[in-house]
Amino acid sequence: MTDLSAAHDAAVTDRTRLAGSAYNGDRDLAARQSLYRWQTPRYDLPGLVAERLGDVRGRVVDIGCGNGTFTRRLRQERPDLAVLGLDIAPGILAGVPGPVAVAEATRLPLASGSVDGALALYMLYHVPDIPQAVKELARVVTRDGLVIASTNSERDKAELDELWQRAAGDVLGIERGPARISLSARFSLEKAPALLGEEFSRVEVVELPGTITVHDPGPVIAHMASYRAWADQYDVPFDATIERARALLRERIERHGAFEVRCSGGILVCRR
Ligand SMILES: C[S@@+](CC[C@H](N)C(=O)[O-])C[C@H]1O[C@@H](n2cnc3c(N)ncnc32)[C@H](O)[C@@H]1O
Repeated sequence: MTDLSAAHDAAVTDRTRLAGSAYNGDRDLAARQSLYRWQTPRYDLPGLVAERLGDVRGRVVDIGCGNGTFTRRLRQERPDLAVLGLDIAPGILAGVPGPVAVAEATRLPLASGSVDGALALYMLYHVPDIPQAVKELARVVTRDGLVIASTNSERDKAELDELWQRAAGDVLGIERGPARISLSARFSLEKAPALLGEEFSRVEVVELPGTITVHDPGPVIAHMASYRAWADQYDVPFDATIERARALLRERIERHGAFEVRCSGGILVCRR
């Protein structure tokens, strides 16, 4: 769904909510990340990003590094690079080996032209002023520096939206309940090239489609429940909807043997 109301935008970008509950630790982010274990084809995203940074030497900054999935892997694969992790949420940074620092994507504590590569992975949709964050990316990288962003398409995991609306409808006693919140809608794969294109003359989109197949409700329900920081945005009791979704999913899996979710996302490789 693409609910682009002001209330939706405010909830997705609210710093207190992001740092204080959504990303105050990595439980919910890890639940969302782990759903991809059941995806075919299975992409090694940190490996893909490391590969794209193949020609980059020197310093790389991972902005909105979260629980450090990309920061760690890059340090492992490219010990020659100096990799700095930045995030607005001190809680999530606590588990990431240094150097890391608390920082805001729209006001990077970095000198102009001071890094050779910058990552903004699955995070620009949380930034209130996306054009300003894109300007900051362009400012901090060297003239021939590389920037890699990533996000999901507006079509991503539509089956989960459908499941949520059916479950919410059952809880409310109506046919279809209110839509699920969409985190990536503000910077979807469809919108991202134009937003990045304001500062970067070359934006290559690498689409990474796939299908998640589960034979047990667990991973899908854990993914849905990982949106609990936004529970007040749903106009339906959150936990009751999660439990109804679990029951619906169990029925579907019993009937069809599996539940499939189509994923649609990608990375954007940018140069000035
Ligand atoms: C979905 S997680 C992605 C984490 C990591 N990049 C990954 O792909 O695994 C989004 C991260 O961006 C951080 N974030 C959100 N808004 C930010 C901002 N304005 N500046 C810096 N970090 C931000 C959040 O705290 C969170 O850790």
